[in-house]
Amino acid sequence: MRIGLLTSGGDAPGMNAVIRAVVRSAELNGNEVIGIKRGYRGLIEGDFQKLTSRDVGGIMDRGGTILLSSREERFKRLEYREKAYKNLKEQGIDALIILGGEGTLKGAEVIAEETGIHVIGVPCTIDNDVGGTEYCVGYDTALRNAVDAIDKIRDTASSHERIFIVEVMGRNRGFIAVEAGLATGAELILIPEERFPKEEIPKEIEKAKEMGKLHFIIVLAEGYGSAKELEEFLRQKVGEKYGEIRSTVLGHIQRGGSPTHFDRIMGTKFGVVAYESLLAGEPSGFVAYEKGKFYIEDFEMAQEYKPIDREAYRLNKRLAI
Ligand code: F6P
Repeated sequence: MRIGLLTSGGDAPGMNAVIRAVVRSAELNGNEVIGIKRGYRGLIEGDFQKLTSRDVGGIMDRGGTILLSSREERFKRLEYREKAYKNLKEQGIDALIILGGEGTLKGAEVIAEETGIHVIGVPCTIDNDVGGTEYCVGYDTALRNAVDAIDKIRDTASSHERIFIVEVMGRNRGFIAVEAGLATGAELILIPEERFPKEEIPKEIEKAKEMGKLHFIIVLAEGYGSAKELEEFLRQKVGEKYGEIRSTVLGHIQRGGSPTHFDRIMGTKFGVVAYESLLAGEPSGFVAYEKGKFYIEDFEMAQEYKPIDREAYRLNKRLAI
């Protein structure tokens, strides 16, 4: 078996642990792994490189992906996919392992359907929003990064008795915001799934100040709206009556840095399961993790709506007194 391996879309800390696990598991069985650079771009352009155990040494503690990544729009067009399929054929690649989020897994599904090549996806995205799996590699590290940053912001927010809006990533979902908010005891969490009315925020701030709180931290999911706009809105509504207002966009800091032990371990396990399912001849699909178990799930499930932990959201609201 000659396995092609690629990482695509937004990188996720822990992707390197998956890569290492795939390459080394394959080598133990005498299978070859061909790394494809920059995700679907490398597939179209034929940018391939053989990977050995030595190539993947000392990469577990590194964020990002050693295979590089891109968001390649051309792959949505058949003429470019045909080019990619020709490259795969020329390289003698008969199986693929593809790491990335929802969009990447959609691409993996299309390859499996159009070529009949055995394709296994591994959900890797800091947004943790892939359907059919409780966990996506990279989420824990992004949370750690967000929590670290919010803790630091809270120190200065308290000293100046300020209102702070901290915008976190998550695309159109609020997974990072809910857990980072709960872990830092945010006064308010704003997520697209709940859409707490903006007009009611001044009342919340007033209540908190009356309770003697020094600061008011709002953890805002980017999918709810922008921090700058909310800052302007609040300034217009309440001015500086309850303290000065500041906003921070955490941005790509959340996606970088050395992966947590959890992402290294989960990445390793996801990688081994991906390889072993190829070996076992399981049908194409992606590796899902639910209730402590790994298994192969149908690609369509990746596009399903994954519910947010509303209990965590409500818990934070109840305790923010
Ligand atoms: O999907 C991961 C993610 O970091 C999202 O949270 C965010 O909305 C998006 O990617 C940012 O994309 P880019 O790195 O292309 O700016």
